[in-house]
Amino acid sequence: MGKKPPVSTALEILLSVDSQIGDRQKIVLLGAGGHAKVVLDALRAQGIRVDGVVDPELAKTESVWRALSVLGSDADLLKLDPTDFLVANGVGSLPGNYLRQKLFKKFKSAGFNFLSVVHPSTFIGSGVVLGEGVQIMAGSIIQPDCQVGNNSIVNTGATLDHDCMIGEDVHIAPGVTVSGNVLIEDGVHIGTGASIIQGVTIGRGAVIGAGTVVIESIPEYSKLMGIKPRLTNAGNESDL
Ligand SMILES: CC(C)(COP(=O)(O)OP(=O)(O)OC[C@H]1O[C@@H](n2cnc3c(N)ncnc32)[C@H](O)[C@@H]1OP(=O)(O)O)[C@@H](O)C(=O)NCCC(=O)NCCS
Repeated sequence: MGKKPPVSTALEILLSVDSQIGDRQKIVLLGAGGHAKVVLDALRAQGIRVDGVVDPELAKTESVWRALSVLGSDADLLKLDPTDFLVANGVGSLPGNYLRQKLFKKFKSAGFNFLSVVHPSTFIGSGVVLGEGVQIMAGSIIQPDCQVGNNSIVNTGATLDHDCMIGEDVHIAPGVTVSGNVLIEDGVHIGTGASIIQGVTIGRGAVIGAGTVVIESIPEYSKLMGIKPRLTNAGNESDL
């Protein structure tokens, strides 16, 4: 008999997210923009109580946001004991904007840990490994033996097929389809609705435009946009 393969059902992943939270730790959301709303709803759908939000702009004018206490700015939180808190990154990610990555690094180096978010409507296959602060949004599917690195987002309704390796600080935007055995390196943005065929590598820091079809490996720090349809002969039953 071979070694039993690792199994991580959606339920086990949800439980492991829950077990990240210490008895007396408070959960604080970083940011109060569009992505933060999605993160907050996903955490609440998991039954996780969020204790407050920090956002420098919001703190100037509001004391409550979406039934959360506005606790001040990032700088205020960074002055406190990191072991008293778990943070959820509410800052989204777009090409050329590195605020989400910067916040992750800044809070990690100050000793804070990040909560991972797995919306209960996702399907997570066996053997899936998720890093710290990963966010798997509503309706997404992650098939067996995929790995998703720290601070990466698999956004609404995106799918990763079997054995995909996703690096750190990656954003797989809403509705993206990634076929099996794809390697996506650190800092890549895959735009809304893009499709990627099996077995290719998307190099570090590359940007794939919304709706783009990727049929070959893409070098690091390059940008690929658009679809170029081409009509050829597909063969037919007489080839059998
Ligand atoms: C790829 C992308 C980053 C390009 O942005 P950009 O570098 O600012 O490019 P521009 O908007 O200046 O467009 C440059 C050219 O590329 C074309 N282009 C831009 N995005 C394209 C796309 N996805 N597919 C095909 N062509 C595209 C533009 O029409 C323009 O063509 P032109 O020179 O003939 O006028 C952007 O269009 C994109 O797709 N972003 C992803 C958005 C996303 O995933 N959002 C998720 C939110 S959760």
